[in-house]
Amino acid sequence: MSDYHIPIMSAEVVSLLRCGPGGTYVDCTLGGGGHSEELLKASSPDGRLIGIDRDREAIDAARKRLTPYGERASFVHSDYKSVKEVLEGEGIAEVDGILADLGVSSWQLDSAGRGFSFMKEGPLDMRMDRSSGETAAELIERLSERELSLILWQYGEEKWAKLIARAIKAQGDIGTTLELAELVSRVVPRKAHPKRIHVATRTFQGLRIAVNEELAGLDRFLIDAISMLRDGGRLAVITFHSLEDRIVKRVFRNMSKPCICPPDLPLCACGKAADVRVVTGKAVSPTVEELERNPRSRSARLRVAEKI
Ligand SMILES: C[S@@+](CC[C@H](N)C(=O)[O-])C[C@H]1O[C@@H](n2cnc3c(N)ncnc32)[C@H](O)[C@@H]1O
Repeated sequence: MSDYHIPIMSAEVVSLLRCGPGGTYVDCTLGGGGHSEELLKASSPDGRLIGIDRDREAIDAARKRLTPYGERASFVHSDYKSVKEVLEGEGIAEVDGILADLGVSSWQLDSAGRGFSFMKEGPLDMRMDRSSGETAAELIERLSERELSLILWQYGEEKWAKLIARAIKAQGDIGTTLELAELVSRVVPRKAHPKRIHVATRTFQGLRIAVNEELAGLDRFLIDAISMLRDGGRLAVITFHSLEDRIVKRVFRNMSKPCICPPDLPLCACGKAADVRVVTGKAVSPTVEELERNPRSRSARLRVAEKI
């Protein structure tokens, strides 16, 4: 089961969440349960863990892996954006620590049938929750060339977005991952192909973020998660690209400000107190040893805030 996904910066997560016996922790992105297992070990013998994932395959894999922890672990198939409702449903008013390890798991990326990989032939699906929502193929079909181009540009940071969107819409009916990857490779001039990554990486990232609405509501989720912490409780977030990291950094910074009055106001009129203290001034990155062990951790950044 450890093949499912290698948890990233797990020692740092356990230590920064100050995970200990008797605590209640929420893993908002359960995946294969790697981080959850570390949280359960560190909170032995009686710590509790609630694991959330929108992917049923992840819930099944984690449930199996975490069987030895018995009733200390509970599993909820849900979107982490409903974290407040999930915890209310479990009868939990506040928790000691929350983790969100954003993005897709290695299992999802490597399973050809899920359609996330430009290296493996599969349906152009890309949904983390296969029980609802539009697939990438359906999204491409529905969007106009301009809308598609905007998605590739904004979410994929793809500078050839216009050209790629035009070619996709001109070809029509792209049903598989390799068809899309080949199209991108054909339309982007060869001399402009990136050296370190596959030329279709950004297109796939943009579509995946759009299909799963990964950025929409991320700020609201962070605010809701912090509201569920006890005083002194901590929220840890691992991001994999600058779009997500920027949102986490901004929300943490805004919530750590005691006053939000315009700077030219002589006296504070808002009366606001800071909600959090940012624990990680600069985002934490994987160590050289971890990068060697797990190259997929390359772009991971960890930020932690403490409720005050
Ligand atoms: C990077 S993996 C987490 C891996 C996990 N930490 C481990 O150790 O195996 C991200 C997981 O979060 C899930 N996920 C992504 N967005 C989600 C959302 N909005 N709500 C719930 N789960 C989500 C994905 O389905 C995936 O399983």
